[in-house]
Amino acid sequence: MAEVLKGMGGVMRRVKVTVVGAGNVGGSIAQRLAEKNCYDIVLVDIVEGMPQGKALDLVEAGPVCAYDSAVTGANSYGATKDSDLVIITSGIPRRPGMSRDELLETNTKIVSSVVKETTTQSPNAILIIVSNPLDVMTHVAHRVSGFPRNRVLGMAGVLDSARFRSFIAEALQVSVENIHAMVLGGHGDSMVPLIRYTTVAGRPIDEWLSPETLQALIKRTREGGAEIVNLLKTGSAYYAPAASVVEMVEAITKDQKKILPCAALCEGEYGFHGLVLGVPVKLGSDGAEVIIEYALTDEEKSALESSAQVVRELCKKVDQMIDKTD
Ligand code: NAI
Ligand code: 2OP
Repeated sequence: MAEVLKGMGGVMRRVKVTVVGAGNVGGSIAQRLAEKNCYDIVLVDIVEGMPQGKALDLVEAGPVCAYDSAVTGANSYGATKDSDLVIITSGIPRRPGMSRDELLETNTKIVSSVVKETTTQSPNAILIIVSNPLDVMTHVAHRVSGFPRNRVLGMAGVLDSARFRSFIAEALQVSVENIHAMVLGGHGDSMVPLIRYTTVAGRPIDEWLSPETLQALIKRTREGGAEIVNLLKTGSAYYAPAASVVEMVEAITKDQKKILPCAALCEGEYGFHGLVLGVPVKLGSDGAEVIIEYALTDEEKSALESSAQVVRELCKKVDQMIDKTD
């Protein structure tokens, strides 16, 4: 990624980011990235005219918002060539009453084909997966791309932690900036908010909130995606998901070495082998540079293992699906 900033022939060029799926999440990511004024963005979707229309609209916002970002829309992959980052949001979202896991079959087909297309055009890119069920789709992206594990990541933990932080801030009437939280595990009902590592202005959360209130906030965090699906009725959350993806993009492109919870392939970390799960990851110009291991209590280990088991079972199912079509 460092050489990206130098560009070709010594001429500086912007970081090129492809966003596949120009729907609610993809469109919001494109807008946030364009407003940073340091990315060139390619939006891809299967719906004819839609990514082109959103791209043009974003370009026309440039003079008002003071950015010169190039935004291009496309229905095929030529324009994505040599992207530095590829963000995959294509797929179907949940409707009320649906679990993320019910998206499995459709989204496996979509994510597999998109990973093939984008990695052919951009063999050195870093992939960030957003499509659900998140951990399993990140597993699919690993398998289909064959990329090293530092270059395939999934976004969920930043969002789940942000939801937890926002609920704590509301309960305590303090700034969200005072709150640090780390939600690990799979992006589903079994996610694991690490209470011992959750602090408000450096003080442990259990010194601020009663166990009952804390449990209620954890439950709300676990059900945070469904809460929004039930309100929207026609789709799922996108503002906070897009903001979360952009935090990961900036950590990578600015080589920040920022530690964020991301879905990453564990090869021994936390005792997991060959399994994608939400874990703390140091993000820098090489992508997922290091998985950080926290010391966990037996109870936390067992919660993480239960969450891992849910992901493992779904990965087995998608492996069978992919094996059949190979
Ligand atoms: P959306 O329906 O608004 O957008 C999805 C877009 O993907 C649509 O425009 C559709 O035409 C496009 N698409 C479908 N198949 C395609 C293909 N083969 N190639 C290119 N584009 C294709 O849905 P939304 O709300 O943007 O959500 C997208 C995905 O992200 C869903 O699976 C959703 O569950 C997931 N999600 C994950 C989150 C996370 O924390 N990881 C948070 C929010 C959403
Ligand atoms: C969410 O948590 C749908 O996974 C998405 O909002």
